Formats: sequence, structure tokens, C-alpha cells
Amino acid sequence: MELVVVILAAGKGSRMYSDLPKVLHQLAGKPLLAHVMDAAHSLNPQKIMTVYGHGGEAVQAYFKDRAIHWVFQKEQLGTGHAVAQTLPHISDQATVLILYGDVPLIESKTLQGLVAAVNQKTLALLTVETDQPQGYGRILRDQNKQVCCVIEQKDATPEQQKIREINTGMVAVSAHWLKRWLPTLKANNAQGEYYLTDIIKRAVEDHLTIQVLHPQTLAEVEGVNDRKQLACLERCYQRAQAEKFMLAGVTLLDPQRFDLRGTLKVGKDTVIDANVIIEGQVTLGSRVRIGAHVILNNVIMGDEVIIKPFTHIENAVIEARCEVGPYARLRPGTHLHHHAKVGNFVEVKDAIVGEDSKINHLSYIGNAELGKNVNVGAGTITCNYDGAYKHKTTMKDNAFIGSNSALVAPVVIGEGATIGAGSVIYENAPDGKLTITRAKQETNNRWQRPQKQ
Ligand code: UD1
Ligand code: MG
Repeated sequence: MELVVVILAAGKGSRMYSDLPKVLHQLAGKPLLAHVMDAAHSLNPQKIMTVYGHGGEAVQAYFKDRAIHWVFQKEQLGTGHAVAQTLPHISDQATVLILYGDVPLIESKTLQGLVAAVNQKTLALLTVETDQPQGYGRILRDQNKQVCCVIEQKDATPEQQKIREINTGMVAVSAHWLKRWLPTLKANNAQGEYYLTDIIKRAVEDHLTIQVLHPQTLAEVEGVNDRKQLACLERCYQRAQAEKFMLAGVTLLDPQRFDLRGTLKVGKDTVIDANVIIEGQVTLGSRVRIGAHVILNNVIMGDEVIIKPFTHIENAVIEARCEVGPYARLRPGTHLHHHAKVGNFVEVKDAIVGEDSKINHLSYIGNAELGKNVNVGAGTITCNYDGAYKHKTTMKDNAFIGSNSALVAPVVIGEGATIGAGSVIYENAPDGKLTITRAKQETNNRWQRPQKQ
């Protein structure tokens, strides 16, 4: 069976009061439309077609790397008109599944059910019962409880407005029927629009069976019209993620303050404190402890790592039993080997830190390679940049860097070398020796401190 997914995304989104097209606003760190596209992709369709209008260039630019078929709807004349624009690009045999670009939490499983329910003589319609049906199209059923049509809020009588079963808008049917019905839609309704929902009545007239399916949760079919609804769905999503991880053996000290904006893989008995934000692709081992107010962006972490509060880590690998923070910043290209330690107010960038090595306080280590068991004293700076190029600093196994040293790269600190505190090291320091560039200490016996007369 050929499957084509049509995503409607031409609406203006005026209630967002935004220069950004509505479907590019983000939920869990990803545009609304990307959520819908991912759900569509999960069905392995032959084609995904997105109907765009307002702000179309920005939307297309964002998704330029995806295999999407874009269809322009010049004027937003209604959902029926929007779908009609796609029909010339769809073969008669295809099953067409219609989704909305601003309904981000729809689940693949629900859509699979809709698609599976379609054949030449059935139309599959996703509906849901709600206590707050205002604004939605209502589902009208006949004496035999069969769906006979959808009536929009603005066209419904007060009696019809009491109906609690609403149209989610998501529907699947053969293109053969859409091609028959859509060109004949009329806009003689309260909004003067070509309603896609009018196809339900036409399907009944053509003796199709209306197969009604329901989503697992209401959140799946809720749309975003304003920023309040966006925030509300964001929380729904985060609550669901938090529950999933807790049920899989992760302790979240406050599941209300957990934010996943990407993907997370995590072992058992890991504990995550409040206000941790996880972005991109993050993998955490077992028995890891993540302190409060930590941001992890594309990080791989082994078992039993301890991340103390207020630490920011981006594009880094942290092997088992390392300790980082509080207030540390690990920038892209940081790789901490087993049991390394990075303490407070330390910035590390593009650096490999060997097993058991320590950078405990107030340092900048960039473009560097540290061997095993290196001890970097407080206030050590790698001077890696000459104004034009970056250069490398190497600290070999068991090197000891005295506090407040400046290592002017390119430079190599030899194995077991000791650097005296306060040194500026601009030539390689030999293995096993003390190297020091400190000015000699003097005491002036004749000097007297001035006194106020
Ligand atoms: C629609 C349904 C309604 C349903 C509700 C669910 C119709 C007539 N009504 O109403 O039964 O309960 O969704 O949320 O279909 N769009 C276009 N081009 C257009 C018009 C709309 O691409 O010309 C897109 C919008 O960007 C949006 C979607 O279609 O993603 C739905 O449009 P919207 O105007 O929000 O329809 P509703 O009035 O909410
Ligand atoms: Mg709507």
C-alpha cells in the first residue's frame, strides 16, 4: 500500500504574536513541525507533503535537509482547500493521512492505527471526548451511533455544541475519494472556508464506513494556538518523559523540574537533582549523580560519575568515576578519562585529561593533552592562542603544575616534571625536574613604610 502523509502548516498562527512562523516555535527543544514530521517518518510513508503559506521560506529553510515535498497554499481558504493543493501530486491508489503542523505530540502508534483502518470502503477518523469541546468541530452520530458528519463550532446549534466528542482533524482515507470529494466542496458556512471536515458527510453518502479511533491521551491531539498552550504541552511532554525514566530506574528528585530537550539514555540508580536540563543526545551510566542546576548538552558519561551543581557540559565525554564541579564548564572536545577530577571555576576546552588527573580550582585548560595522574594547581592557564592560531599544551604523566602558572603553548611539560608556582613556562620543561621562572625573592632591610605626619 502506498502511503502519503499530508501535514497542514499554512496557517498564520496570529495568536502567537510572533515574527516566527508558529510551527517553528519549539517544544522540548524542537520545532512543533519537526515533532509532526518525526511522527510521520515513523510510518515509513512513500511521501511526506507539507502545505505551507505564511512564513514559508523560514520553514523550508529550517527543514532543508529533510526529504519533504512542499506545497504552497497562496491563500488560506480552509483545511479542505489546503489538502486539495496536494492532490495533483498524489496517485489515486495512495492512502492519505492528514496531520496538523501545530499538533506536536501525536504518537506513531495512534497514526499506525488510523492507517491500518483504511481500505477502499473505509475512512479512518480520530476523535476524542473532552469536557472542553469549545472551538472544535463536533462529531454528529445517527440513531445507530454511526458517525454521520462533523459540524464546526461556529456552525453548530446550541444543542450540538453540548456534544463532547470532538474532531481532532486527523483523518486517513484513499486519495481516490479525496479527488472525488474535495473539488466539489462549498464554502457556504459561518467562516466562508472550504472545510475538510465536510468530507465525512460525503463519505457517508458514498457508503463508506467511518472507522473511529481514539488517541491514548488528550495531549496527543491538542494543538498550539498561543504561548500558553505551548507551555502547557511542554509540561505534558516533560511529565511523560520524567515518568518514563522513573519507571525505568532513574531517581528524579523533582520530576516537575526535569527538562529533556533531546534524547537521553541512562543506566540504573542514577540520581538527577532539580533543574537539570538535558539537550541533544546524552548518555549517562549507572549510579551517576547529577547535581542541581546542571546543563548537559551532547554528553556521554560512564558509571558513577558525580556532577556537582551549576555545571555546564557541552560535547564532552566523561568516563567512569570522574568528578566535576560545582561551577565547572566543560566545552566541546573535553574528554575526561577514568577517575579524573575537574573542580570549581575551571574551564576545559578541546582537552584530554588522563586517568586520575586533577584540575581542582580556577583554571583554563584549552587545546591540551594531560597524561595520567597530572596535578594542575589552582589558577593554571594554558595560553593557547597567539592572536592568530591555537597551540597545544602537553602535560605528561605525573606532571605537577604549581599554582598560578601560565603555560605558553606550544609547550610540553615532561613526565614527572614539577613547575614552580607562579611560573610562565614558554619552553619545554624536562622530565622529572623542577622548572621555575619565578623572580627571586628579596627582603629590603632598610625600607620603612611611610607614616602620615
Ligand atoms: C479544524 C477542524 C475542526 C477540528 C480542529 C482540531 C476544519 C474545518 N475544522 O478546525 O473540526 O476540531 O481543526 O484542531 O478542518 N490550515 C492550512 N490552510 C488553511 C487553513 C488551515 O494549512 O487554509 C492548517 C492550519 O495551519 C492548522 C490546521 O490546518 O495547522 C487546522 O486549521 P485551523 O484553522 O486551526 O482549523 P480549526 O478551526 O482549528
Ligand atoms: Mg486550530
